[in-house]
Amino acid sequence: MSKPRAQFATRIGVIAASVGSAIGLGNIWRFPYEAGQHGGGAFLLIYILFVFAIGVPIICSEFLIGRSSHSNVLGAFQKLEQKGSKWHLISYVGILSSLMILSFYSVVAGWTLEYTIQSVAGGLKDSSPDYLANYFQEFTTQSNRSLMWTIVFLLLNYLIIRKGLKNGIERMSNIMTPLLFVILLVFCVNSLMMPGAADGLKFLFVPDFSKITPKVMLGALGQAFFSLSLGVSTLITYASYFKKDVPLVRSASIIAGLDTLFAIVAGLIIFPALFTYGIEPTEGPKLVFEVLPYIFSQTPGGQIWAAAFFFLLFLASITSTISMSEISISFFCEEWKMTREKASMLNTVIAIVFGSLCALSFGAAADWKIFGMTVFDLFNFTTANLLMPVCGIVFAIFAGWFMDKKLVRSQLTNDETLKVRTYKSIVFSLRYIAPLAILSIFLYQHILLDLVFLFFSQNQ
Ligand code: TRP
Repeated sequence: MSKPRAQFATRIGVIAASVGSAIGLGNIWRFPYEAGQHGGGAFLLIYILFVFAIGVPIICSEFLIGRSSHSNVLGAFQKLEQKGSKWHLISYVGILSSLMILSFYSVVAGWTLEYTIQSVAGGLKDSSPDYLANYFQEFTTQSNRSLMWTIVFLLLNYLIIRKGLKNGIERMSNIMTPLLFVILLVFCVNSLMMPGAADGLKFLFVPDFSKITPKVMLGALGQAFFSLSLGVSTLITYASYFKKDVPLVRSASIIAGLDTLFAIVAGLIIFPALFTYGIEPTEGPKLVFEVLPYIFSQTPGGQIWAAAFFFLLFLASITSTISMSEISISFFCEEWKMTREKASMLNTVIAIVFGSLCALSFGAAADWKIFGMTVFDLFNFTTANLLMPVCGIVFAIFAGWFMDKKLVRSQLTNDETLKVRTYKSIVFSLRYIAPLAILSIFLYQHILLDLVFLFFSQNQ
């Protein structure tokens, strides 16, 4: 670690890179189907509550751990913990989870490439909802194409990550995020003029409190972690490249606000369309890949819109996978003393192996089930709903109780140069609200018991 560490060049670059990490398939693919499966309005309400009461404080904890240590995630805990304690072990959970997420995320990101190309080639033009449902089904079960796109995506990701921070991340996020938002807004207006708009809005915004169950709470918690890129130390790693003058709390709030805005706008596009076309909101991961192409095919100039949209979604995914990859790369470089080139290669090879299994989960490997889930579903479920929140509890408790209090304060207030009005509430959440809330959701959900039960019922 003798070389000076890279830093993000500009302050806006910092926000752009973290927003680029946060915004991606989580907002546009995962949020609508999770909200659809978990009752709409009730889910959204709890989701927003979790983003601000738990998410923002945990973003702050990751930021302050990263910036005060200037190190990869393992090194960060080793620098900050007291001698002999074992906090650093959590970093292995973070590294493992980041590789698992990269693997299944790349499958869906690969789908965006297929849909971009098909939009350009005209394969999705003039189609009916049935045709699109079949198209998706055939495309993902004819495993070779889905598998090929997963690998292509990971190789593209590799080309960017091997170059390091400045060349790749900042430049791309700065252009991509605003453009994607513009297209989203256009289609948001388009959807709001559909005949099913009122029903869609009602579904998304009017909570039916009887729908709030432990499963809905766990889904909302997992979605909040996933969408904010929390709990696998992405933000610890990014913050290790932050300069001294970055306002951590304000950045955390901006990231959470923008990320939620994108998810809601995506919801405003999807739900009016669902109710207009009579598609069930509970369809799961394939939902937006059936609905969006149909919306485009009904719009004048739809092919161009579709191509632009899926291409931007692909770019949004890549700014997210870059951030996932950075966790293991900085670890391989700093702890295993690999060159950046080799570390990027190792990251890519691991993701290709597991990503292929995830891609095949829709076709050839659809019957390989662990705990009753395909590899894709297992990776998606266990990372968001178990591993990330577990890391979140540990980060919160570490920053709230075990880190040097003066250091925490000086990080959050930039050595008292900033007035942070929410300082007390953030520390309070890190100490009590975040850990207790996550823990009670776990207990309430009996998540571990459920997994064990599923495992045994599967193997009987
Ligand atoms: N938050 C990103 C999205 O919504 C995905 C993502 C990027 C992520 N980095 C992560 C998820 C780290 C979990 C962990 O698409």
